[in-house]
Amino acid sequence: MKRKPIIAGNWKMYKTVSEALAFAQELKRAVDGIKEVEVVVCPPFTALYQVSEALRGTGIGVGAQDVYWVDEGAFTGEVSPKMLKDAGCSYVIIGHSERRQFFGEIDDNVNRKVKAVLESGLTPIMCVGERIEERESGITEKVIRTQTEAGLAGLAADQVAGMVIAYEPVWAIGTGKTASDADAQQVIGFIRGLVSDLFGADVAAKVRIQYGGSVKPQNAAGLMAQQDIDGALVGGASLDVPNFSGIVKAAA
Ligand code: G3H
Repeated sequence: MKRKPIIAGNWKMYKTVSEALAFAQELKRAVDGIKEVEVVVCPPFTALYQVSEALRGTGIGVGAQDVYWVDEGAFTGEVSPKMLKDAGCSYVIIGHSERRQFFGEIDDNVNRKVKAVLESGLTPIMCVGERIEERESGITEKVIRTQTEAGLAGLAADQVAGMVIAYEPVWAIGTGKTASDADAQQVIGFIRGLVSDLFGADVAAKVRIQYGGSVKPQNAAGLMAQQDIDGALVGGASLDVPNFSGIVKAAA
């Protein structure tokens, strides 16, 4: 089955509203006419609505970087799936390693968020990835299995088929140390195999699995050529249009 690649830019805690809007205008021009790749930007919460409005009708999607799992309530500081949808989002990054490392995100809550986001009609980009000490002690697959099984627990097959999983080795994030094409393919193939075991071969053939970790225009084509890699979750290189659109073009 041919899966459409998805290149998503995770801006993390960068860009004011005016910077985000300038980026959106420039990106529209840079990726105009590219239909074979889905392009998504994930600004900070503060810029979501205006970026969504600026990109309306272009085919470029907008995602949030986190979410809480109920639609409203006394949860100071949190943002709900309903609010993100209302602000124009169609995607939500869930379980990013920076949330796990700095903000106490745990697998059970990743699962709650994935379920809530799917129930609201948004698409989760669920992140999994091993730390360097886990890779060096040979437990990469064990870590990925635990995170993937926990994140997808209790979901229906059609829900999993429509979502996005991002494999981001923590040691490759923001370090300039990209996983080799073969290493990224090996783990992403392992994740697809897990999805097949849990939800069936049809679901595994449909779910899109991205690679993330120091993706740049220079290394994107090799990664994107791997049979199980369906796009990229891009951090640093998503912050300027020439680099980000270069990655989009490498995936086309
Ligand atoms: O979500 C994106 C990843 O954390 C990758 O970040 O491209 O700066 O390594 P990076």
